[in-house]
Amino acid sequence: MTAAMVHTSIVDPNAKIAKGYPPSVMPQNYAQAITAQQLNQLVQYLIASTSKGGGGSSSGAGGGGAGGAKAGAKKGGGKPKRG
Ligand code: HEM
Repeated sequence: MTAAMVHTSIVDPNAKIAKGYPPSVMPQNYAQAITAQQLNQLVQYLIASTSKGGGGSSSGAGGGGAGGAKAGAKKGGGKPKRG
């Protein structure tokens, strides 16, 4: 998943429904519920903490924000398989 995809899945979760899940379960108000900066930090964190996907160029949106967290941590499985 790219940063843009993660961003969309948070602010507009019904735009694309994850396989095996029903629509309209996830709240659709995160664009209002948290600030744009918090949203960017959240997206960056999710990209950094899931070693697969995203990677490479983060779409210029963020800047500033949450540096610090090391992305490298080796985790066992990665994404749990659905289904
Ligand atoms: C800050 C809080 C949250 C974040 C960052 C977040 C993030 C995400 C992301 C990135 C996806 C897409 C996953 C994929 O395509 O593989 C997703 C899907 C989903 N989320 Fe959340 N979520 C949050 C809160 C919630 C809450 C509170 C609920 C329900 C109580 C929820 C229910 C779901 C469900 C059912 C899906 C799958 C259906 C779909 O793709 O829309 N989420 N969420």
